[in-house]
Amino acid sequence: MISIIVAVAEGGAIGQKGDLLCHLPLDLQHFKHITSGHTVLMGKRTFFSLPKHPLPNRRNIVLTDIQGEQLEGAEMVYSLKEAIEAARGEQEVFIIGGGMVYRQFFPYADKLYITHIHHSFPEADTFFPEIKLDEWQLLSEEKISADEKNPFDFTFAEYLRKK
Ligand SMILES: NC(=O)c1ccc[n+]([C@@H]2O[C@H](COP(=O)([O-])OP(=O)(O)OC[C@H]3O[C@@H](n4cnc5c(N)ncnc54)[C@H](OP(=O)(O)O)[C@@H]3O)[C@@H](O)[C@H]2O)c1
Repeated sequence: MISIIVAVAEGGAIGQKGDLLCHLPLDLQHFKHITSGHTVLMGKRTFFSLPKHPLPNRRNIVLTDIQGEQLEGAEMVYSLKEAIEAARGEQEVFIIGGGMVYRQFFPYADKLYITHIHHSFPEADTFFPEIKLDEWQLLSEEKISADEKNPFDFTFAEYLRKK
């Protein structure tokens, strides 16, 4: 199963200047909880944007066009086809970004773990594809209110692609 996990703000925004839009510790905990023990697949820019890479306790697969490039702690793949091949046999593989990689995997995704951030970031430069709600079944939803450490309201939602 191919799953996508992403934090999406208003207008589909997901990133700015190579970084996340905001710091939401509760969302980072949620990400760790869901992906730990599994395989994560990402683009090279996202790999380098991680505060700690590779992500511990996870099989890290990284996409690059640069044939033969190796990054410590990561399994490298050099095309979408190779990435799908590398993930074959895994019960659930998590696509963890960024924009370029989400766009390519979105048509193949079976499940979405979306953190909807209820805030607009006009300076955003990286976006997630439109989620058409008639194509996805909402499995669960949990609303979280902003607090002193998490500056915006957000909602954890899980969707399954309709057959
Ligand atoms: N909100 C969220 O949940 C979330 C999650 C993750 C990332 N982000 C944000 O997204 C932004 C990064 O996204 P991005 O679109 O700039 O970069 P990205 O998708 O992380 O990485 C792009 C790179 O991946 C490689 N790549 C992608 N597709 C490939 C393919 N089919 N074959 C071979 N290589 C391929 C290329 O590496 P080479 O250049 O080496 O060829 C490409 O330059 C950052 O702002 C980050 O913070 C947000």
